[in-house]
Amino acid sequence: MKVVIITGGSRGTGASTAKICAARGMGVVLTYNRNPAAADALVASIAAGGGTAVALKLDVGDVGSFLAFREEVASVLRTSFARTDFDFLVNNAGHGLYNPIVSVTEEEFDGLFAVHLKGPFFLTQTLLPLIVDGGHIINLTSATMRVAFAGVAPYASFKGGLEVLTRYMAKEFADRKIRANSVSPGAIRTELGGLNEEFEATLAGMIALGRVGEPEEIGGVIASLLSDDNRYINAQNIEVAGGYII
Ligand SMILES: NC(=O)c1ccc[n+]([C@@H]2O[C@H](COP(=O)([O-])OP(=O)(O)OC[C@H]3O[C@@H](n4cnc5c(N)ncnc54)[C@H](OP(=O)(O)O)[C@@H]3O)[C@@H](O)[C@H]2O)c1
Repeated sequence: MKVVIITGGSRGTGASTAKICAARGMGVVLTYNRNPAAADALVASIAAGGGTAVALKLDVGDVGSFLAFREEVASVLRTSFARTDFDFLVNNAGHGLYNPIVSVTEEEFDGLFAVHLKGPFFLTQTLLPLIVDGGHIINLTSATMRVAFAGVAPYASFKGGLEVLTRYMAKEFADRKIRANSVSPGAIRTELGGLNEEFEATLAGMIALGRVGEPEEIGGVIASLLSDDNRYINAQNIEVAGGYII
């Protein structure tokens, strides 16, 4: 059984990815940060559908906790999957912030940097010894990298950094045939998406398909990228945004 680790797998696009991966026969290790109840409910629903999922706590902004997290992962791999390694890492966890450049605080800037760039960098570095040769890393970026959307400058800038980091991962992990790609959602109906009726209508007018996306439309792409059908895709950023400002 292939095993995928999904950070921020308790809600939104991560939860959707977890469900679809489990339905396709993968073992799932999903992480949560502040909301264990959502993670537990998802684990139970995957188990009820015949899949196997385990939830672990992880703050992606806390690099100092990553070594202990790796120990927990190793233990779960042994006990739940009879494995000493895993196949796929999805760096998905994150939070958003709407605040124009003129008023962003240093604390907000540092918080976004920690979760969207520094965290994925050091978490991948820490977990790398447990990833199989031929494995695959997927980083969640954002369509806000391509089109400037006022109010999300630090977030979008760090996502841009993550896109570059993805190419460097593909380069530096090539000796182990580990691939790295990023998936770049547009406006998706999750808590982070921050939609209300008016905002959704405005966004829909900017999207060729005329609507915002649903979490499973990101989860489906990630699960599909992890399948063998897509084994020659490497070092790419794949925007999944319904044709956002084209
Ligand atoms: N939704 C969109 O429109 C959109 C667009 C472009 C890109 N994205 C990207 O897609 C990814 C997922 O976003 P989403 O919309 O699914 O968000 P979401 O629904 O708000 O879910 C966020 C997930 O990340 C976890 N999380 C938050 N902060 C964390 C931290 N510091 N450490 C570890 N886990 C943390 C949450 O866990 P707890 O609930 O347990 O705290 C939750 O599982 C993010 O990287 C986001 O930037 C989303």
